[in-house]
Amino acid sequence: MSDQKTGPNHVAIIMDGNGRWAVQKGRPRLFGHQAGARRVREIVEACPDLGVRYVSIFAFSTENWKRTQTEVAGLMALFRRYIAKEMQEFMRQGVRVRFIGDRIKLDRKLRELMDEVEELTKANTLTDLTIALNYGGRDEVARASRRMARDVALGKIDPETVDETTLARYLDTCFLPDPDLVIRTSGEARISNFLLWQSAYAEYEFIDTLWPDFTPEIFQGLIEQYAGRSRRFGAVSA
Ligand code: IPE
Ligand code: IPE
Ligand code: MG
Repeated sequence: MSDQKTGPNHVAIIMDGNGRWAVQKGRPRLFGHQAGARRVREIVEACPDLGVRYVSIFAFSTENWKRTQTEVAGLMALFRRYIAKEMQEFMRQGVRVRFIGDRIKLDRKLRELMDEVEELTKANTLTDLTIALNYGGRDEVARASRRMARDVALGKIDPETVDETTLARYLDTCFLPDPDLVIRTSGEARISNFLLWQSAYAEYEFIDTLWPDFTPEIFQGLIEQYAGRSRRFGAVSA
């Protein structure tokens, strides 16, 4: 496998630090989430020039339900407002939007907006934005296994033929290439259940910047740094 010479095709971002950003300013956590949501537009807009075709963002994890009812409700309202407000912007930017995660637990109005934006933007081809909402990597693999087991029971697949490709087809991310680069802001060096299966060979960047302070310039710097990395995928570089 040759050394890394080009930029990442798929960048996944764990947008962390909204709460601390707000608290530092003496404001409620939701203020940080609002500021964080506003950051997404210019990052997505920067993708084509940086050669990034796929960008995936972690918006709400299967573990985030453990937060206070006020914060969870505030986040859900923010997601609804965000999708409604950005809908035309996605069209202007040629962005195709899709969601991963378990939608069952989300409220009906939000699910309708998610369906609407997916349908509206489905012919866009400049950037593919994937938003992880009520997403957890383990939950995703468990749900995929459940669906696959059903197909085994129905005789649609022979269990002896099940391999990595088979399981990958049942994942929420079946339409996505694996991430080349995973970025996490806010100084935490952990995955927090994001794209576990898909990131097996991703490159990681953990940076101290809190998400509401993340800029296209910082993004560009990380992408340039990625170009210098040697990805060997278990082989020996030439
Ligand atoms: C990330 O920011 C956004 C979500 C998890 C919804 P946080 O809310 O986790 O911010 P910190 O980590 O508390 O600063
Ligand atoms: C991960 O951030 C989830 C999102 C960014 C949506 P958290 O802030 O929830 O992660 P932990 O709990 O600190 O690991
Ligand atoms: Mg956090």
